[in-house]
Amino acid sequence: MSAPEIHISKDLESLSRGAAEEFVSLAALARPRGAPFTAALSGGSTPKRFCELLATPEFSSRVRWADVQLFQVDERCVPPADDRSNYKMIREALLDRVSGIHFSRMEAEQPDREAASRKYADQLRAVLRADAEGWPRFDVIYLGMGDDGHTASLFPGSAALAEQERAVVPNYVAKFGMYRLTLTMPVINAAARAVFLVAGRGKAERIKEVLGAPAGSAPQFPAQWVNPSQGSVAWRLDEEAASFLQRV
Ligand code: 6PG
Repeated sequence: MSAPEIHISKDLESLSRGAAEEFVSLAALARPRGAPFTAALSGGSTPKRFCELLATPEFSSRVRWADVQLFQVDERCVPPADDRSNYKMIREALLDRVSGIHFSRMEAEQPDREAASRKYADQLRAVLRADAEGWPRFDVIYLGMGDDGHTASLFPGSAALAEQERAVVPNYVAKFGMYRLTLTMPVINAAARAVFLVAGRGKAERIKEVLGAPAGSAPQFPAQWVNPSQGSVAWRLDEEAASFLQRV
């Protein structure tokens, strides 16, 4: 467990470039290990530019994609062609633009959400090494944060937030009136590195509360629960999202 790194970039473009550069470096560092480099991608709007940049020759040509296994952090329970689908965003921004990417899609559209969750957990365990507690351990997990402090599909007060047994679960999100599938906090905190990508003034107040909380204070928001016991956490923010932090 280490203190969070905070990287503040001018805007979303430079935040995304920084994250893409780091992805290339982390993947290269993993090569001598001889095992796949494993990463989980969130949905929503913030990571789209990061995915698009990874697909450009400037970055894509520096990644040995045959040695990379990509997964999802969470997915809305909608068909994969639905505009709300996180997979659709990742497919359009990255997968359709780079051949040979190994990507495991969360089949959140399946009526049996429990079975779909178990299937995805099995896919994780088939590829990822396990940590000392037996949780699948990602090399890196890319997370967003909502203005309510949620991350992945772990929303304040939602049942999945407290899940300590399963790696992937369905979660009913009351504010949207819909179900999602999501990695659980034990998997997120088993990662070697968690990287938040957060941009925009709309997140500034919550960022100040999440990152400005007194040391040792009890976590109020799901994003504050992210603290890999055998890993690191980094917050990649643009100046707008960090604006209240800079006033501290
Ligand atoms: C999702 C995401 C979610 C997202 C935050 C931030 O399925 O929506 O996984 O956790 O990261 O809601 O979303 P934005 O990047 O769109 O602000």
